Amino acid sequence: MDRPTYEVQTLGCQMNVHDSERIAGLLQGEGYRAATGDETADVVVINTCAVRENADNKLYGHLGMLAPRKRENPDLRIVVTGCLAQKDRGSVSERAPWVDVVLGTHNIDSLPALLRRSAQQSQAVSEFAETLQAFPSDLPVARGSDFSAWVAISVGCNNTCTFCIVPSLRGRERDREPEDILAEVRALSDSGVKEITLLGQNVNAYGVEFGDRQAFSKLLRSVGGVSGIERVRFTSPHPRDFTTDVIAAMAQTPTVMPSLHMPLQSGSDQVLRRMRRSYRAQRFLQIVDEVRTAMPEAAITTDIIVGFPGETEDDFEQTLEVVRSARFSGAFTFKYSVRPGTPAAEYSDQVAPEVVSDRYERLLAVVEDIAWEQNRALLGSRVEVLVGRSSGRKDSPNARVSGRARDNRLVHLPADAGLEPGDLVTATVTHAAPHHLIADDEIAVIRRFEAGASSCEPQGSTVTLGLPSVPVTS
Ligand code: SAH
Ligand code: SF4
Ligand code: F3S
Repeated sequence: MDRPTYEVQTLGCQMNVHDSERIAGLLQGEGYRAATGDETADVVVINTCAVRENADNKLYGHLGMLAPRKRENPDLRIVVTGCLAQKDRGSVSERAPWVDVVLGTHNIDSLPALLRRSAQQSQAVSEFAETLQAFPSDLPVARGSDFSAWVAISVGCNNTCTFCIVPSLRGRERDREPEDILAEVRALSDSGVKEITLLGQNVNAYGVEFGDRQAFSKLLRSVGGVSGIERVRFTSPHPRDFTTDVIAAMAQTPTVMPSLHMPLQSGSDQVLRRMRRSYRAQRFLQIVDEVRTAMPEAAITTDIIVGFPGETEDDFEQTLEVVRSARFSGAFTFKYSVRPGTPAAEYSDQVAPEVVSDRYERLLAVVEDIAWEQNRALLGSRVEVLVGRSSGRKDSPNARVSGRARDNRLVHLPADAGLEPGDLVTATVTHAAPHHLIADDEIAVIRRFEAGASSCEPQGSTVTLGLPSVPVTS
C-alpha cells in the first residue's frame, strides 16, 4: 500500500519553521511521506503563532478552510500545534471541533502517539507540558533545504517585555550545550549544508544557564570555524546583551555574515522603559556605530512596534529620529497588538487605532526611503549571492531566481542563467528597489551546489505565512 501523506503549514517565526522540520521528521519516522503538489494529505499539521492578534486569526481562517475537507473525508487528521495551541489549549477544539489533535510547544515529540490515539477516538486528543521536555533539535528532522539550515541554540526567553506573549508560551530560556550545537553543525556540513542560522528568542543571552556571559561570542567563533560552512547567521539578538565580544567575534570570523537583525521596538526612552526593554535609544545607536566601525559593509535591520500604550506623538517622532540615525537597511514594522495576559494589555492608555495606522504609514514611508537609498547605493557593485528557490513562473519573461547577499539583502537573478538552489555566485547589481536588488549582469559562478550523501527526503509543503524576524533565506 502507498504510504500515507502529510502536509505541515507553518504560521510563525523561524523557530516554528525549525520545529516544523522536526514534525515532518517525526511523521516520516512513522512511515508518512510529504504530500506532493496536487495530493490532498492524510494528516494536516498547522504549526501556529500567537505573537500578534492577526496570527490568531490566521489559524482560525485556515481551520475554517479545512472543515469541508474533513466533512468529505472523516479519516483526515487535523493537528494544531505551536504557540497558539499552547495559548488556547482547551478552546481550539471548542472553536473548531473538527480538529483531531492539539499539542503544545514543549512536547512535540508526543505527536506520533497522539495521532495513533486520535485514530481510535472521536474526540480531540491533546497534550501540554508546562516546561520543555526535550530539545526539538534532538528529534528526527526533515529539513526544508539541503544547503541552508536552522540550528536552535536556545529555546524560551527570560526577558519580560511587557507587550510580548512569547515567554509565557515558550517558557524560560534553556540553552543547548555548545558541544551538541557544534556536533549538529558538523553533521550538517558533512551532509552538504553551506549556510546555518543560529536561532533563539534572545541569542546573545545564550550561556545564561551555565553562567558564561561570553558563551555566544565563543559559539559564533567555533561554529564559524566548522569546515565547509560558508555562511553563519543568527537571529535575534537583544540590544541589552549585545556586548563588544559579540561584535569582535562577528568581525573576526570570516564566515559570520555582515548582517545584523536587532529589534529596536521604539526610539523613545519613555516607551522603552514601559516596554521593559532595558537599553535606551542612545545605547542602541552606539551599538549600531560600533558594528559599522567593525564591519562597514554590514546591513542592519530591525523590528519596530508603533502604537504601544501611552505612545505620544513626541515618542513616535523619537522613533523616526532613531530610524533616520540608524539608517536601517530594512525593518519589520508592527502595529501594537494586545496580547492577553501580558502587562501592557492592562495599560489604560491604549492608542486609538486610527492614530496607530497613521503612525504606521508614516514609519513605513521613512523606513522604505532609507532602505531604497541604501539599495540604490549598491547599483553597479558586485554582490555575492547564495542562490535560493525560484520565484514566479519559470517560463515568464520576468522569471527570476532569488537569493541572499552576504549582508542578507534579497537579490533576484535571471531564471535563465542556469543557476540552481545552493549555488554561490557573484553578479553586478543593475536595479534597486526598497526591498530587493536585481543583479543580472556578469554572473560568475563561484561554486556549484552538490547535495551531500545524506541529503534528506523532501520535507513537505511547509508554507511560512507569518512575518519572520529575518527573511527566510532559502
Ligand atoms: N525574541 C525576539 C522577538 C520575537 S517576536 C526578540 O526579542 O528579538 C518578533 C517581533 O514581534 C518583536 O521583535 C516585536 O517587534 C513584535 N511583537 C512582539 N509582540 C508584539 C505585540 N504584542 N504587538 C506587536 N508586535 C509585537
Ligand atoms: Fe519577547 Fe523577545 Fe522580549 Fe523575549 S526578548 S520577551 S521573546 S520580545
Ligand atoms: Fe511563537 Fe515564534 Fe510566534 S515563538 S508566538 S511562533 S513568533
